[in-house]
Amino acid sequence: MKRSHALVALAALGLAAAAACSSDPAPARPALTRDEMLDPATCKTCHADHYREWSGSMHAYAADDPVFLAMNARGQRETNGALGDFCVKCHAPMALIEGATKDGQNLAAVPAKLKGVTCLFCHSVERVDGTHNAQLTVARDAVIRGNFADPVPGTPHRSAYSPLHDRDKLESASMCGACHDIVNGHGVALERTFAEWKASVFSKAPGGATCGQCHMSQSAALTPVAQTVEGVAARRRHSHTFAGVDVALTPFPEAEAQKREIQAFLDASLQSALCVSTAGGTRVRVLLDNVAGGHGFPSGAVQDRRVWVEVAAYAGGSTIYQSGVTDASTPIAKTSDPDVWLMRECLFDAKGAEVHMFWEGTSTDGNALPAQVTFDPTDPRFYQTHIERVFPRAAPAPGAADRVTMRVRIEPIGRDVLDDLVATKDLDPAVVRAMPTFDVGASLEWTAAGAATDVVIDRLPYRCVTKTNFNVQADRFPAKERTRCKP
Ligand code: HEC
Ligand code: HEC
Ligand code: HEC
Ligand code: HEC
Ligand code: HEC
Repeated sequence: MKRSHALVALAALGLAAAAACSSDPAPARPALTRDEMLDPATCKTCHADHYREWSGSMHAYAADDPVFLAMNARGQRETNGALGDFCVKCHAPMALIEGATKDGQNLAAVPAKLKGVTCLFCHSVERVDGTHNAQLTVARDAVIRGNFADPVPGTPHRSAYSPLHDRDKLESASMCGACHDIVNGHGVALERTFAEWKASVFSKAPGGATCGQCHMSQSAALTPVAQTVEGVAARRRHSHTFAGVDVALTPFPEAEAQKREIQAFLDASLQSALCVSTAGGTRVRVLLDNVAGGHGFPSGAVQDRRVWVEVAAYAGGSTIYQSGVTDASTPIAKTSDPDVWLMRECLFDAKGAEVHMFWEGTSTDGNALPAQVTFDPTDPRFYQTHIERVFPRAAPAPGAADRVTMRVRIEPIGRDVLDDLVATKDLDPAVVRAMPTFDVGASLEWTAAGAATDVVIDRLPYRCVTKTNFNVQADRFPAKERTRCKP
């Protein structure tokens, strides 16, 4: 029975129709070929939800991303082609395997089905050979690797269980991790999400969490994962939106849904507290804790991310102090604000000058919030993620604030980096204007009259507000300075 239903779906695809009509007993129906499976649109016929989610993901966008295309083009030019296939190994791995590109400079002419991190690419990984730079062995056997030990009989493609594709197995993180850590040609580890995760408590069983457990949420409801194939048992399915912080900057499917999901993800990302003292002028302490990231915050392309804290203090309706407030014409990294708490990574060339492009970096230094290393509150390291900064950094602001606000902001790619690509004519300025700024975690508001916890810090009375159970009395660590890129 199941087989005949599966055949209906195959016929809808225009495949194997002849086999379906042949004499009794029906010969074994041919499984989907590798060639057919190269195209994500083939998967869409049966896995429509997985396809829709993936089609709006950064995995689908990876080789269409105008910033990627601009950086790759500039990198190829500035290195006289030495960059080679370095970037496309991760951004268009199937196009590389199929010989449709060598260096990503012809991506506009590469068939869409081969672009980005495709369904078949992930679902064909048979071995992980290293911890970075896409050291993955991809099988060409047309067997789909997945998380089911018991796919229904008659599944239209061959399938096999693989722990690399099972979010409940620690080794699944090494498949994601192989692409989510980059070591450039100078041996500098630039994007280290996997290394950060390995050093965190999340990589330790029990109680840990894999990339997939946080980034591929499991449905509460049981539904068939192949919707058009009748007779398929209902199971829990796993999201393929892969929301993080980055968004499509040009028209792309699912853009609004992707933005909403990123915002929901970021809303739950940080725990924060805002403490204010008005004794002898206004002092504001902001405390942040990376509670939800299985890696640093920010992570990934930290050399391109810009995260900063916006603080404003008011008295009688007028602003008596502010930091981290920026306008459309000034990238936050170029602000003259001496107090700005900017979380970023600086890249330096061999002479110690700041550079923006990652093939140029020979060293790096950053101040992202660390990941949690223990869940045991009696372990002193538990509080090492409580990072704080005092505003203003010099003397307190004159006057006593009656209201103070705080929010954390993130630009997935800093406008200073994008402006640099526009300056070399590699990027269209319209792309820069499309880059959104998100708020991360809850914004906090402190008022002189409102409820707050009284604490004494550095012998001064402070009153603190938080939307979580942040323990403001626990150990706190000063934020590492990294506003100006000086080695
Ligand atoms: C003609 C319908 C059809 C097409 C086309 C199709 N699948 Fe499937 N797929 C199924 C069915 C049926 C199952 C089994 C579902 C179950 O057991 O609950 C399945 C199972 C899977 C699984 C789980 C397998 C396991 O053992 O863990 C993955 C992963 C998967 N498909 C990916 C893909 C990808 C990627 C494509 C495109 C290259 C694709 N499928 C194309 C029908 C299809
Ligand atoms: C970045 C790698 C990656 C890409 C790209 C990807 N998948 Fe998956 N997929 C996974 C992993 C990992 C799982 C297993 C999740 C788990 O452990 O439960 C999975 C599970 C599945 C399943 C099993 C059902 C479920 O929800 O658990 C299906 C079906 C599937 N993927 C289809 C697709 C299709 C279709 C595409 C492209 C449109 C695609 N995948 C793209 C990594 C990927
Ligand atoms: C072939 C390499 C490759 C593999 C394998 C891979 N990724 Fe990715 N991933 C990428 C690339 C490339 C991008 C970014 C594309 C872009 O923004 O241009 C990305 C983007 C993402 C993002 C969005 C990042 C952001 O800034 O918003 C998340 C989340 C993500 N991947 C999670 C995963 C998880 C979880 C897995 C394993 C199931 C995985 N990836 C496997 C290459 C890979
Ligand atoms: C405990 C849950 C958790 C685990 C485990 C986890 N992540 Fe994340 N990830 C998040 C959250 C929350 C965010 C959004 C904000 C942030 O960066 O913390 C995020 C963001 C990201 C981003 C966007 C980059 C940025 O600036 O933060 C990437 C890429 C990413 N994760 C990849 C991975 C990969 C790859 C793994 C496994 C090696 C992984 N994540 C493990 C929760 C998790
Ligand atoms: C080892 C795999 C890998 C290699 C090699 C790689 N990338 Fe990526 N790239 C990723 C992943 C994973 C992400 C998503 C992580 C994130 O968004 O933080 C990403 C994100 C990006 C982004 C969007 C996010 C941002 O902030 O910039 C751009 C642009 C980009 N890469 C350009 C390039 C270029 C250009 C090259 C070659 C010089 C390259 N990448 C090489 C894996 C890789």
